[in-house]
Amino acid sequence: MRIILGVTGGIAAYKAADLARSLVREGHEVQPVLTRSAEEFVSAVTFASLTGKKVLTNLFEPSAAIEHIDVAQGNDLLLVAPATANILAEFAHGLAGGFLSTLYLAFRGPVILAPAMNTNMWEHDATRANLETLRRRGHVIVEPGVGMLACGTFGAGRLAENEAILDAVRRVVNPVVRDLEGEIVLITAGPTQETIDPVRYISNRSSGKMGYALAEAAVERGAKVILVSGPVALDAPRGVEMVRVRTAAEMRTAVFAKLEPATVVIKCAAVADYRPAAPADRKIKKKGAAVTLELAPVGDILAELGQTHGNRLLVGFAAETDNLLEYARRKLEEKNCDMIVANRVGGEGSAFESDTNEVFLVMKGGEVIEVPRASKRAIADRILGQIVRLSQGVAVTR
Ligand code: PMT
Repeated sequence: MRIILGVTGGIAAYKAADLARSLVREGHEVQPVLTRSAEEFVSAVTFASLTGKKVLTNLFEPSAAIEHIDVAQGNDLLLVAPATANILAEFAHGLAGGFLSTLYLAFRGPVILAPAMNTNMWEHDATRANLETLRRRGHVIVEPGVGMLACGTFGAGRLAENEAILDAVRRVVNPVVRDLEGEIVLITAGPTQETIDPVRYISNRSSGKMGYALAEAAVERGAKVILVSGPVALDAPRGVEMVRVRTAAEMRTAVFAKLEPATVVIKCAAVADYRPAAPADRKIKKKGAAVTLELAPVGDILAELGQTHGNRLLVGFAAETDNLLEYARRKLEEKNCDMIVANRVGGEGSAFESDTNEVFLVMKGGEVIEVPRASKRAIADRILGQIVRLSQGVAVTR
């Protein structure tokens, strides 16, 4: 595929060099376009060497008179990574002040935008409105990650990992088959928060990325998706029915309220196993001495679903620090599931929070399918692929 790689001016611009290299490695012809501010962060020579192409930057070079039109017409995909708040605004409002924004207006193919910026800029109403406009135009937004940003703040706005951006490109190259049409998929995602007192709670590190990736992928494959989500910093995927909850008890109520029409249930949420036995209704005051918090067990939603399994497919997760497959098989049996997605947690490569994951799909029939490390979106597609086969009653092997 012939891809225009637009690079705009942000600290994450250096990551676009690696992206350009990966795109070339995957067999694409890459035409780099750098904005003037991108040139303050990275050198055009780097991109020229990596892609073997002349880097386009300036609308007013004598030879560039209609170059933006030629480039727009001679390429199949426009990818902008990183995309600053400014370029999103220019694209959303059709401003054509620079080479990249002019090219955008002349371009007729699919557009993928991977934003990166300061958290406040990302959360600003103006940016939200611009993103909404761009989404409505059908452009793909590769959501930024949460983390420590170059400006020293912690929050959303970090450029998505290159693997997630490459994945978005792969989905344009190989369009998704709508093989979940007619299915109603109920997915849980994110952590739960169990109240200690009005200002404190017990929770876990789940970011919601794995569950949201499943929801996004299921929608693209034609399913009606109901997403029951604990508190996370992610936007609702397009086209899902969102139910936001906080505690495990709220999640249980929401799941059973939405269960009836569901043909597939995927329990990806990291639900509390214990909650404070007697939450205080006033803030617990600090004392010098140690305090003890009594915890009461929380009912297992997945196990309860397993008891009333019916005809629907039931997929659970197993998050384990050790004995991954042994515990996953036990959960498959005990919770009466059709599949358990087993992933490792804690330490390097933990499934929690990261943009990537590696899993084993432990199937009811005894098969175990290893899915090597990939973006959570790619893992989601592998999981859904197995669900499609299960729903078609096809013998499940690789
Ligand atoms: O959100 P991310 O940062 O992307 O991270 C993804 C993830 C690590 C949270 C996800 O991939 C994952 O492993 N989710 C399940 C986490 C978990 O709670 O695992 P578990 O082994 O403790 O629970 C097993 C299963 O029982 C899970 O399907 C869980 O949803 C379910 N459960 C657990 C407790 C409970 N009270 N009710 C439940 O339904």
